[in-house]
Amino acid sequence: MDDLREKYLALISAAGDEATLEDVRVRAVGKKGEISLKMRELGKMTPDERQVAGPALNALKTEINSAISAQKSALADAALEERLKSEWLDVTLPSRPRPAGTIHPISQVTEEVTAIFADMGFAVAEGPQIESDWYNFDALNIPSHHPARAEMDTFYMHRDAGDNRPPHVLRTHTSPVQIRSMQQRGAPIRVICPGRVYRCDYDQTHTPMFHQVEGLAIDTDISMANLKWCLEEFVRSYFEVDDVELRFRASHFPFTEPSAEVDIRCSWDKGQLKVGEGDDWLEILGSGMVHPKVLNAGGIDPEKYQGFAFGLGIDRIAMLKYGIPDLRAFFDSDLRWLRHYGFASLDQPTVHAGLSR
Ligand code: PHE
Repeated sequence: MDDLREKYLALISAAGDEATLEDVRVRAVGKKGEISLKMRELGKMTPDERQVAGPALNALKTEINSAISAQKSALADAALEERLKSEWLDVTLPSRPRPAGTIHPISQVTEEVTAIFADMGFAVAEGPQIESDWYNFDALNIPSHHPARAEMDTFYMHRDAGDNRPPHVLRTHTSPVQIRSMQQRGAPIRVICPGRVYRCDYDQTHTPMFHQVEGLAIDTDISMANLKWCLEEFVRSYFEVDDVELRFRASHFPFTEPSAEVDIRCSWDKGQLKVGEGDDWLEILGSGMVHPKVLNAGGIDPEKYQGFAFGLGIDRIAMLKYGIPDLRAFFDSDLRWLRHYGFASLDQPTVHAGLSR
């Protein structure tokens, strides 16, 4: 029995993989294994012999079985060790250099504007960039013969020959989102609608695609005074200064009555743009009290409700705040420009933690 034990314990500890180990197990304690066969011989023994051999064989079987399972887990540990070694990774190594991305000033400013108006209780609404003629014009009190349609240098979508429906347009402003928001949310309402708009125009201060944010506040007691307060509050917060002067100029938009364009005091000193000082004025937005016809188009009763609206040029105020002289460079995708004017990707602008840091 000692020979058997030595032989199998040696075989077990020599087994280098699970298959060999299984082989040894079958040969020792399998149905026809050497130890199992010995156990069958117990029957032929005298009771006295059996008294000694029986427990000894059982103990041997137990010992072999536990040696096998110990070897099995040792093999598994070794395999895991091997795998860990081959998959080892030095996390302290410097990362591979990659082109560093930054947040585009337009995205940054959109976030800043959203944070400021969110603080004043405005929700964000969005609408499609390819817009129907009705939402972009008619619903905003710009009928088809209206000169404002021509003034806006509209991009029209294609219609098949013979299809006489008015073509869709690339929205020329974010004002159609006013109508969509009124229809979806009803009154009272307080939303801002940031997004891309399109007009066929191109020079140092105009690109065919640019960005606006529309503001809309409707309730039963809204006046021009609320509009002024909101805009002044916004401008102070956005430019992060106490004194920024706004100029409200009487103007005309078909969708507001009365209407005002708003300019901001600034200076252009040696190409450097500064806000809040100097003798220049830069137009940043159009605004006014929502026209009753527009409220009607949005499904809101003008006898009960009134409100203000404004449309602000995001690109304009980005240029002003961050001293970017040429609008066209915004959309050139020049990495050097993006590195210079871009923002760190993990800084989220909030009113309380600082907008631009
Ligand atoms: N939609 C106007 C524009 O693009 C701006 C505007 C919006 C004016 C809302 C008044 C009210 O010029």
